[in-house]
Amino acid sequence: MQLAEKITSKSAEVGIIGMGYVGLPLAVAVAGAGLKVIGIDIDREKAAKINRGESYIPDVDRLLLENAVKDGLFSATTDFSVLGRVDIISICVPTPLSDMREPDISYVRSAANEIAKYLRAGQLVILESTTYPGTTEEVILPILEESGLTVGKDFYLAFSPERVDPGNKNFSIHNTPKVVGGVTETCTELTTLFYSQFVQMVVPVSSTQAAEMTKLLENIFRCVNIALVNELMLLCDRMGINIWEVVDAASSKPFGYMPFFPGPGLGGHCIPIDPFYLSWKARQYDFHTEFIELAGKTNENIPYYVVTKVGEALNSHEKSVKGSNVLILGLAYKRDIGDTRESPALKIISLLEKLGAHIGYHDPHVDEEIIDTKTYRSVDLAPEIVSDSDCVLVVTDHSSVDYRMVAENANLIVDTRNRLKNFVGNHIVRI
Ligand SMILES: NC(=O)c1ccc[n+]([C@@H]2O[C@H](COP(=O)([O-])OP(=O)(O)OC[C@H]3O[C@@H](n4cnc5c(N)ncnc54)[C@H](O)[C@@H]3O)[C@@H](O)[C@H]2O)c1
Repeated sequence: MQLAEKITSKSAEVGIIGMGYVGLPLAVAVAGAGLKVIGIDIDREKAAKINRGESYIPDVDRLLLENAVKDGLFSATTDFSVLGRVDIISICVPTPLSDMREPDISYVRSAANEIAKYLRAGQLVILESTTYPGTTEEVILPILEESGLTVGKDFYLAFSPERVDPGNKNFSIHNTPKVVGGVTETCTELTTLFYSQFVQMVVPVSSTQAAEMTKLLENIFRCVNIALVNELMLLCDRMGINIWEVVDAASSKPFGYMPFFPGPGLGGHCIPIDPFYLSWKARQYDFHTEFIELAGKTNENIPYYVVTKVGEALNSHEKSVKGSNVLILGLAYKRDIGDTRESPALKIISLLEKLGAHIGYHDPHVDEEIIDTKTYRSVDLAPEIVSDSDCVLVVTDHSSVDYRMVAENANLIVDTRNRLKNFVGNHIVRI
């Protein structure tokens, strides 16, 4: 049976490599559409959890996952040989930066090498990991074609960026349009058909490179606009203007403007990292992506600014950073999730520790964190913990925190999220 028929008759089997924040929700969505899916991960623990029907990603509904496993539609393994059996293979492995801040596509390469071992005629391979334009055709394609099979004829290859937004209750895989770019027209058509089984709208583009660039444009757009508002925050601070009031007022314009908010610095594994995939690639074309570099520099500076603000605030209370108890509210990179990757809180804690502050933190979603080899554990947010602190620093504005209690009991608060805007008092400092 041809792949298109297998997809529409729901008899196509899907293999997803990488069962993380992207791969696991994708697997549950595929199973929800009635297609059999097998997750492949090098992490035994993750595979075991899936097979027990346990979700380890907050956005993935435990019941949906459990039912998919019970119904025999979803299982996981560490054994890559299943790749020979499946019809569609999706790659959802990490794409971090190396120590030299260059793209580290070793995970993508390793996944492609595993696929190449088992590649057979009729299979469709889709890369979902965020990466620089050219990865699908310059890195994956040559590895797969070592098998002697030809793309577009024997097997199919496409790029389709994931748009997962952890913690977003309004948009999931089903109602977030999916961009698709295949190596050939048939590759695009088959990939579009596949995603149409569980995504409301698929947006085909003319090439894998256009699809790869689309994802980067989306992330760079956020990175640059956050940097812009962060820079204006620094200026407003000097000019004695409330940046939050300005952003709110500008947001009343019904066209030609969309709000971005200042904060303690960029976080997450996407926005601070992905743009540099493009700047690296651009250098091969003698091109310097100035906006990306400038935005990166501006955003990376913000945690230092936050630490300066804490120092100034303590100073106004005749205290020094050294020896002060600073309670950090929120460690995750954004509200209501437990992901601390690239979170500015980690940098801020590291800087404050170096200045001699005693750091504690409260985060309802992060029990424990190791920062610079030191292990920190979340403390309960009791009034006496708040009042015993010389300064409370709001880094992540989780919605479950009792900010009224914090405002009423704290000696000093530095608020990087304007979360305490409805409380008055000289003890509240906004960045
Ligand atoms: N998390 C997001 O919000 C998000 C959104 C859009 C795009 N992305 C992109 O999607 C990709 C994956 O991100 P993520 O957040 O899911 O990462 P993750 O770290 O949560 O998950 C990656 C998984 O891949 C596994 N893995 C690593 N190497 C492997 C290999 N060779 N074979 C099999 N499994 C392997 C890891 O054990 C892990 O479980 C990245 O390129 C990321 O930039 C992530």
